[in-house]
Amino acid sequence: MKDQLKSIYEEAKIKIERASDSAELERLFIEYLGRKSKLTNLLRNIKNLPVQERGETGNLANRIRQAIESGIRTRRQGLKAPTGHKTLIDRTLPGIMPALGHYHPLTKFIRLVESIFISMGFEVVSGPEIELAKYNFDLLNIPQDHPARDLWDTYYIKAAQGNKSFEQKEQLLLRTQTSPVQIRAMLKRQPPVRLIAPGRVFRHEATDSSHESTFYQCEGLVIDAGVKVTDLIGTLSIFLKRIFGENVKIRVRPEYYPFVEPGLDFDIRCQLCGGQGCSVCSQRGWLEILGSGLVHPVVLKNMGVDSKKFSGFAFGLGLDRLMMLSNGVKDIRLSYLGDLRFLRQF
Ligand code: DAH
Repeated sequence: MKDQLKSIYEEAKIKIERASDSAELERLFIEYLGRKSKLTNLLRNIKNLPVQERGETGNLANRIRQAIESGIRTRRQGLKAPTGHKTLIDRTLPGIMPALGHYHPLTKFIRLVESIFISMGFEVVSGPEIELAKYNFDLLNIPQDHPARDLWDTYYIKAAQGNKSFEQKEQLLLRTQTSPVQIRAMLKRQPPVRLIAPGRVFRHEATDSSHESTFYQCEGLVIDAGVKVTDLIGTLSIFLKRIFGENVKIRVRPEYYPFVEPGLDFDIRCQLCGGQGCSVCSQRGWLEILGSGLVHPVVLKNMGVDSKKFSGFAFGLGLDRLMMLSNGVKDIRLSYLGDLRFLRQF
């Protein structure tokens, strides 16, 4: 309401200054101070504001009213005797706040996810968006001829010809998942390990309301002695409850991923239809939220971890979809359009 008041004041100030005769000033008097004016309307609504805002807003509105009134009075005299004050400045009015920006809804959401995992003892790490094929695929138990490579086909990148500073010995690509960060992180660490790796990934994807070719994932990895499936389910249930509230309904299903054994998918009850079935959950009543599983022994070996002493779990969640669900956003593409009408809602 304060912003509305200030803009009424700004508008009135200019019109009063520009008024060329007293008839015009009388018209402005009615427009800004009359019974049906915007200002009078706002004054009437002050009683509906929260108690702690009423005093300050009421005060501002009254001062603006007085300023407009005295501005019109001054101009009236000025028009009669052109030596009077020309400008209308009330130095006691508060300044106009410059418009401040804020974080993107996805950034805010990623920070929330990070803070939840940090509170459970996880560290936050990152990896490159342009990745070596061996980290994106081979060392994650997806060899050259594995069908998953078709599913996750992507852009392969060549060093520019004649670029002497960069000699390309290995295949480079736009990473299709954040899972390669698991391998990279373990090259520099020894168990016990608890980490998450949020970041951007790329897919050859026809875009629609729930698919984008560029989006955000968050990888998670826990390796320690005696890590079990129940640790995985417990940790991720706590996470989902922290995001969606204690009453969220969670469902765990078996699923295949080459880098885990067994693999599990987590679904939550569709928040929008409460499980009745709607277009957002494709009439299923459940929404797939993340993939996970116990780290495959081959992957543990590729990480340099002794699978006889240690076990672990890993998971990968789609941050965009989670953010959409928690904020009621229905189209994934809105996050990347830069449309202020969308962004200002957060
Ligand atoms: N990387 C998988 C994807 O992009 C998601 C995933 C599934 C990550 C299972 C994991 C996992 O770490 O254990 O679809």
